[in-house]
Amino acid sequence: MENKKPLPQTDRRSFLKAGTLVTAATLIPGIASAQEGAKEIRVALVGCGGRGTGAASQSLAVPGTKLVAMADAFEDNVNRAYETLKKQFGDRVDVPAENRVHGFEAFKKAIDSADLVLLCTPPGFRPAHFEYAVEKGKHVFMEKPVAVDGPGVRKVIEAAKAADAKKLKVVCGLQRHYQNSYLETLEKVKEGLIGEISSTQVYWSGGGVWTRARQEGMTEMEYQMRNWYYFNWICGDHIAEQHIHNLDVSNWFIGTHPAKANGIGGRTKRIGKDWGEIYDHHYVEYTYPDGTIMNSQCKHWDGTWSKVSETIVGTKGTATPGMIKDRAGKVIWRFSGENNNPYQTEHDVLVQHIREDKPINDAFFTADSTLTSIMGRMATYSGQEITWEQALNSDLDTMPKVLAWDADPGPKPGSDGLYPAPIPGETKVV
Ligand SMILES: NC(=O)c1ccc[n+]([C@@H]2O[C@H](COP(=O)([O-])OP(=O)(O)OC[C@H]3O[C@@H](n4cnc5c(N)ncnc54)[C@H](O)[C@@H]3O)[C@@H](O)[C@H]2O)c1
Repeated sequence: MENKKPLPQTDRRSFLKAGTLVTAATLIPGIASAQEGAKEIRVALVGCGGRGTGAASQSLAVPGTKLVAMADAFEDNVNRAYETLKKQFGDRVDVPAENRVHGFEAFKKAIDSADLVLLCTPPGFRPAHFEYAVEKGKHVFMEKPVAVDGPGVRKVIEAAKAADAKKLKVVCGLQRHYQNSYLETLEKVKEGLIGEISSTQVYWSGGGVWTRARQEGMTEMEYQMRNWYYFNWICGDHIAEQHIHNLDVSNWFIGTHPAKANGIGGRTKRIGKDWGEIYDHHYVEYTYPDGTIMNSQCKHWDGTWSKVSETIVGTKGTATPGMIKDRAGKVIWRFSGENNNPYQTEHDVLVQHIREDKPINDAFFTADSTLTSIMGRMATYSGQEITWEQALNSDLDTMPKVLAWDADPGPKPGSDGLYPAPIPGETKVV
């Protein structure tokens, strides 16, 4: 991948001074003073669901911001988010009816109206929305993942380069990068407490998420848009949607992305009309360029062992978030700093960088971690070993040619109502 910027290259690092964590609490007064007499920042929200509403409230919790536009595919979702935010923030939510927009093209009007845009739709749409926001010269907060396929990742990388050229500020929702316990653990690993990293194990193993049932009269496009988690062109499978957080931590601590992946996966438990085409489990062995192995597992199996975490194994010890043990299992360091809310810190930091015109662009490392998850999915779906280059250069563009409520989204249920799932050894991914 051309993106050879070191992964932790942003000014997050400036939080850490000589091993001491400068936490969100010490950062916020800086923001407050920086914004005295400063111009108000007009914010637009694109994708008014659960995370979008959360991101908007975190953006509005930063002094000097105002929400001025909201867009969603569905009118009811815009209205629900508007009511929630209006109740919470009053005049800081200044979104007249003409700026509460819906439909596939609504994102353009919202982005046009603002200085800073929050891109919080499902990930299939992120590349197009990010590209448009950068073209229009807007600062961006965008959720992870940032794409669902190789063409999408390439588009994000190009837009990220354009954002740098325009001095736009970009923060992404891999919030562990803004979480004090992770930041300080990374510092300790860099100081050598676990020696050389020899392998990593990462997990998002637990139960599943919501389903949204098909309603009478829905077109196939509307159904898939409502129940988006289970369709790859919108979601990318849960290995991308959720497990990206853990894959990203391994990349971040190691300092690069894997060179190849092989794995196994399938649908064992979650088979039915409501669960679209995605797998319910993946186990992937990733190999980094120097031979370091990352073992990754993610599953959506209700009622089974669960773990969402990362283990970094070194020649002298093992790091987990906030704790380091030596080879004998004795705890040799434990995080004792201030626990912060990383979802809030992301927005504090973004606004601070906008106000001080300091560079920050998380899109490169988020694109890297997004492609890591896509490479794993390609490996489990095909049953083949997949290289980084194959994943990145793949021309398998999953986005429908036409985005309209009566258009064909691609995946089709069989006569039994079930959507076909990938079959290793048969499904082609490159
Ligand atoms: N960082 C985190 O910890 C975290 C947590 C939750 C969700 N997320 C991410 O946030 C994103 C959204 O997840 P969510 O839980 O809010 O889902 P959600 O279903 O609650 O909300 C998504 C919203 O986007 C809208 N939408 C879909 N396509 C659109 C389009 N083309 N244009 C405009 N609006 C569109 C939907 O109608 C819906 O209202 C996902 O990428 C998810 O991974 C991140």
